[in-house]
Amino acid sequence: MIIAIDGPAGVGKSTVARLLAARLGYLYLDTGALYRAVAWKTLQSGIRPTDHESVTALLTTTLIHMQFRNGAMQVLVDGSDVTGELRTPEVTATSSIVSAIPAVREWLLPIQRQIGQSGSVVAEGRDVGTKVFPTAPYKFFLEADAEVRVARRHRELVTAGRGGTVETTSSDLSDRDRRDRTRSVAPLIPADDARFIDTSTLSPDQVVEQMIAAVSTGS
Ligand code: DC
Repeated sequence: MIIAIDGPAGVGKSTVARLLAARLGYLYLDTGALYRAVAWKTLQSGIRPTDHESVTALLTTTLIHMQFRNGAMQVLVDGSDVTGELRTPEVTATSSIVSAIPAVREWLLPIQRQIGQSGSVVAEGRDVGTKVFPTAPYKFFLEADAEVRVARRHRELVTAGRGGTVETTSSDLSDRDRRDRTRSVAPLIPADDARFIDTSTLSPDQVVEQMIAAVSTGS
């Protein structure tokens, strides 16, 4: 059983996916963390993320694994747990750049699908419903007003001690949105059969309730 949740940054995808997975007793697959892991290795290796050839070559000497502890997903790169290092502004910006490289997307596909075969999963990302799990029986596409998304992302950064100004958060978010929506391979678009939820005025619990209602009525 796969529940696919897609949408742009700041719509509350991760929070909602984590809550939903906990409620249903499913694994929570954060596909963005895998792109972040590739970005992390790219930065560590001193490679420019726009250098498609070098990033692609880097993949041949890279091993990425996920492990699940008490419902939380940990990402291992070449055997080391790098989960705590994946949410810096550098990794965030780089992940959006390397995710536009077709070879990176192809390389990460089987890693994501393998988790889908291991049991019931709530998977969250940008192309989960369109590309990774196109036959998922339940697909949601989350949206929210731009100002709400900026405010949420800014609050998240402040809480994580990585403040910056609202203006920087806003321009980083819109740069990332533009890249994610306009890349040639698997751009961020809703699946034809996705159910839309506007989270602008909803709490995470309210979004989860809507999802559970849809799943339990099979609609
Ligand atoms: O969800 P996130 O912010 O952790 O994702 C980081 C970047 O990874 C995002 O800017 C685009 C990319 N990504 C992707 O291209 N496809 C996915 N399924 C998930 C993330």
